[in-house]
Amino acid sequence: MQIKNICCIGAGYVGGPTMAVIALKCPHVNVTVVDANPDKIKAWNGPLDSLPVYEAGLAEVVKEARGRNLFFSDDIPGNIEKAEMIFMAVNTPTKTEGEGAGMAADLKYVEASARDIVKYSKSDKIVIEKSTLPVRTAEKIKEILEEKSKGVHFEILSNPEFLAEGTAIQDLFKSDRVLIGGDSSPRGKEAVQALVDIYYNWIPREKILTTNVWSSELAKLASNAMLAQRISSINSLSALCEKTGADIDELSKAIGMDHRIGPKFLKATLGFGGSCFQKDILNLVYLCKHYGLEEVAEYWHQVIKINDYQKDRFAQKIIDGLGGDVRGKKIAILGWAFKANTNDSRESPAIYVSKKLVNHGAQIKIFDPLVSSSTIMKDLEDYNINKDACLICYDIDKCIHAVELVAILTDTPVYKDLEKNVPIYDGRGINSKAEFTIGK
Ligand code: NAD
Ligand code: UGA
Repeated sequence: MQIKNICCIGAGYVGGPTMAVIALKCPHVNVTVVDANPDKIKAWNGPLDSLPVYEAGLAEVVKEARGRNLFFSDDIPGNIEKAEMIFMAVNTPTKTEGEGAGMAADLKYVEASARDIVKYSKSDKIVIEKSTLPVRTAEKIKEILEEKSKGVHFEILSNPEFLAEGTAIQDLFKSDRVLIGGDSSPRGKEAVQALVDIYYNWIPREKILTTNVWSSELAKLASNAMLAQRISSINSLSALCEKTGADIDELSKAIGMDHRIGPKFLKATLGFGGSCFQKDILNLVYLCKHYGLEEVAEYWHQVIKINDYQKDRFAQKIIDGLGGDVRGKKIAILGWAFKANTNDSRESPAIYVSKKLVNHGAQIKIFDPLVSSSTIMKDLEDYNINKDACLICYDIDKCIHAVELVAILTDTPVYKDLEKNVPIYDGRGINSKAEFTIGK
């Protein structure tokens, strides 16, 4: 099957970069990204230095493909109808109300996309789950699509995304693997082949793994859970290092040199953040409970519990470092994003640490080179952090001026060379001048 037009629903951190790379690598295919948020589409069509997603190399990719075969549009009906292949890359946050609140993935945006697809489709489509979804979601999407299909055939594939923010473009150019789950029926196989053919434009065939739909859906949740589990494992040991004099970085190196374990994702920090690890593990825990697997659920839940413990431990270290009383004391927070090289602050440990400090009466000064002040303000509001106790700084020197302690929360290189005239507490372990570093 020759694909000429691709539509992607969702122009966020996944939809934008992945479709930009598909368009770049497949100049013979028209790729249009649509979104319910017209401001986002406007920004994707706007100046290259203010795209809605900050990723190294993204602006160059967009510059080359935009207007050639990459388009951003708010015409959802027209672009659904035109496409032979539709990606769903909408957000799947943790549910905040109803059954499974606080654990299960909220599928309302996926379901709304499926309803739009069935409403506006007049010809057969391949529908691809790009969002991270609970195992067996394809069944639910199929139900929605088939209920009002008017003779149109929809073939559903799972093609989860494994990119990490900050390295998204490199990850997309050189993926460890591309995973495609599909049905074993002739039409299912044809759809899988059509998607394999897209990726084969730049990904070697041996890195494209095809499986059944359920394995693909579950592999995504499991991959994130395993990555996060490594971080919680090393973070749990960081607490023991602090008690015993063992050095967490030396420990990490020694463990990681075993080729069966490997060195990656063994960096002890103040805890993992980001929009996905926590929500995906909670989702996994919910699924296990749903299937009556209480012990398995509890095993994975422990990864989150250690992460919460670690964030809290770091905030408490700061309070203890200031004599147990931070009331009225000024503290600099360097790094608001959930990691370096991104403008994304979703589930950032900085938010948690700041909230605890402000709740204990501290005044905080915040600096991050990539996160906008409007995003920080919104986070303060969303997380009920007293804004009067927070000052957003545009300059690192102003941020660390006249404070009693500097807390480093991301490994942004500019934080490394700070002159130490007040205690530095380093949650990322990059600063040799730090008074307190995780695990030491
Ligand atoms: P995001 O919030 O950045 O983007 C989602 C976009 O979908 C938003 O712009 C929103 O306006 C749009 N949207 C929602 N409902 C819509 C609808 N019915 N019609 C049109 N547009 C709609 O989210 P994201 O970070 O790109 O994540 C998307 C999915 O990919 C999630 O399931 C996530 O778990 C997964 N994922 C994310 C990453 C990552 O690094 N962010 C990596 C791998 C997988
Ligand atoms: C993660 C996965 O790495 C991606 O494969 C996946 O596609 C993505 O989630 C997703 O599904 O959203 P991301 O969250 O963007 O990517 O970034 P990571 O580099 O994995 O970092 C996540 C968090 O873990 C950050 O807060 C980071 O600082 C922390 N981390 C990472 C550590 O604390 N220690 C480490 O050794 C590595």
